[in-house]
Amino acid sequence: MILRKIIKNNISLTCLWYIIDNWLAGKRLKNGDLKTTSGTRHSGMSLKNSIDYIDRVFKDYLLYGNLNSFSGNVAEIGPGDNLGVALCILANGAENVHAIDRWKPERNNKEQEQIYKALALRKGFTNLFTGPPNEKNIKGLTYNSGVPAEIFFKETNEKFDFIISRAVLEHLFDPLDALSYMFKTLNPGGMLIHRIDLRDHGMFSEHHPLTHLTINDNTWKLMTNNSGRPNRVLVPDYQRWLTSSDINGKIFISRLVGLNEDLLPQRWDQIPQDLKDKALTKVEAIKPKLSNRYRRMKDTDLAITGCILVAKKPFHSK
Ligand SMILES: C[S@@+](CC[C@H](N)C(=O)[O-])C[C@H]1O[C@@H](n2cnc3c(N)ncnc32)[C@H](O)[C@@H]1O
Repeated sequence: MILRKIIKNNISLTCLWYIIDNWLAGKRLKNGDLKTTSGTRHSGMSLKNSIDYIDRVFKDYLLYGNLNSFSGNVAEIGPGDNLGVALCILANGAENVHAIDRWKPERNNKEQEQIYKALALRKGFTNLFTGPPNEKNIKGLTYNSGVPAEIFFKETNEKFDFIISRAVLEHLFDPLDALSYMFKTLNPGGMLIHRIDLRDHGMFSEHHPLTHLTINDNTWKLMTNNSGRPNRVLVPDYQRWLTSSDINGKIFISRLVGLNEDLLPQRWDQIPQDLKDKALTKVEAIKPKLSNRYRRMKDTDLAITGCILVAKKPFHSK
């Protein structure tokens, strides 16, 4: 405990700790060990909170996509330890859901059983189970477990009407490349909806919230390339991806640095000035220490620590 505190308080020691941790993650990956606690969302949650969480995530997707309902073939990337959101999407009108997860998030089987049992009682859900309610018996669901999204979308022959994720893109080694493959697999009129958490995921929790952007790219790679820790791809990178090709897309801001609460997704000009000022003051306090790549970015871009990327494939597109 004391050692942990000493490491956490010192930025160089914290980096060293993550380099070792990342090296160990590489060894586990080589041995085919895909266990993770990233995505173990429901463990220890009450049944009510689990169900509320599933409903909230599902409703958020409808809100972000400005949708009345889902339909056709849907891919959900990184569902975590429960497939309740996929179930809601199926009950809502989708024909198939492909869940894709690089890792195998640890689960509490007893809690999972309770969640599926509770969902199965809902109107329109009962027929979605081909046997006792659990993740293996969901009609219309294909669970691609142990498959990275980067590989899945490069190799799949499937075409999708929606590709969605929440708190996942920041864990991909090259999310922009993966997005390009996702976009290729969309049917005309198909949509990407990704909620992206741009924070440091607690890596430098004792320091300024943008401390991770002070580390140079080579060291960062050594700290994160196997473990799936945040890739530091920020809003201007996603914006560049959107404007680089035939993509009709938008980015909405859902969080600012230094603020504890999420924002309802909105454009920069819609955010109240006092919140923007607070975030920009936080950016100014660390800007001179940022690594070159981030020092060159606009303060307004650095202030964004959460966003929603929504993109639609035009109907005339191939
Ligand atoms: C932070 S959890 C989010 C879980 C869930 N979407 C939620 O919001 O509660 C990240 C999830 O993405 C998965 N993941 C990480 N890297 C991935 C990749 N390259 N391809 C597919 N899934 C990935 C993790 O295993 C985990 O299930």
